[in-house]
Amino acid sequence: MHESVAKRINLESQPLVSAKKALADRSTLTKGMRLSSYLLPGDWLKTFFFLNCISAPRKLLRKFAGSFYRMEQLYDVLRDFNAKYKGPFSILEFGTANGYSFAKMLYATRYLGLENEVTVHAFDSFEGLRAPDGKAEISLGGFEWAQGQFKGNYEILHDYCEKKCYANYKIHKGYFEDSLTPDVIAEIAQQKPILVWVDCDYYSSSKTVFERLLPVLPSGCVFYFDDFEFNFGSRFTGEAKLVHEINHGKFGDEIELVPDRQLSLDSDCTYRFIRFSESGPAYEKKPHRKWEGWPRPIANGSPLP
Ligand SMILES: C[S@@+](CC[C@H](N)C(=O)[O-])C[C@H]1O[C@@H](n2cnc3c(N)ncnc32)[C@H](O)[C@@H]1O
Repeated sequence: MHESVAKRINLESQPLVSAKKALADRSTLTKGMRLSSYLLPGDWLKTFFFLNCISAPRKLLRKFAGSFYRMEQLYDVLRDFNAKYKGPFSILEFGTANGYSFAKMLYATRYLGLENEVTVHAFDSFEGLRAPDGKAEISLGGFEWAQGQFKGNYEILHDYCEKKCYANYKIHKGYFEDSLTPDVIAEIAQQKPILVWVDCDYYSSSKTVFERLLPVLPSGCVFYFDDFEFNFGSRFTGEAKLVHEINHGKFGDEIELVPDRQLSLDSDCTYRFIRFSESGPAYEKKPHRKWEGWPRPIANGSPLP
């Protein structure tokens, strides 16, 4: 064949080949949509079908399966620590208000049969929020904090816990700077914290909590920040500012908060505390099945184990 003709055929067949490959590579979703588009008449019906029969159920499924629900992690954390480590443990909630989450934490320990292993501590002034203190607490257009918001009732919460016959709880009434005393910190050191639930909204309050707890936090302790997404999670404000500062060395070179994707799913709210030094508090491992470190023998060639 003449060289120029061969060149032309080659050039012309290239887009055809890549178009075919693209078609072959298309996902089942795209193929299904093409078929629907072919079968449905008119742009309006095609668009209606896409929005209501494809896009909406896809979003719903994604939300149902992958979105974060804060109470779910309670059970995961309790089960995980109980399986791996020896107690006693503690769960610490900073910002309790009327005890909506606190009641769920206590019940989780009861449901899992861990009331003797886990003490749940509630910390709150029961005065509601203070006035925002400085730029780190200012809303950039969304939800605003205000003085007195979320004022809880200590007596009602206390009575609720008594009525339910819980014995594994403590309610610490007062501002964190006053209630996180050396004695309380020493008590927490004995009941290794496994979950620190930060729901006090403000950067300043969360910072006090972290500074006071730091000496007694073991690596692996779970931190949940209820209001991480304040101002879209900007590192200039709120709990996100604290996480940013911790991870940029403000509280020490060898500590960090690592996002726990399994617990936090589609949110940025849940982290594992890491202390990269040999000294410091640690959980005591439970003895587990002895593994000598031998490689596994051949089982079969399939992907199944
Ligand atoms: C959003 S509410 C907590 C909601 C609660 N976790 C629930 O499940 O309903 C925030 C609480 O943090 C408390 N708080 C904020 N800063 C505080 C501080 N420095 N000391 C004590 N309490 C504080 C407020 O009194 C308020 O009750």
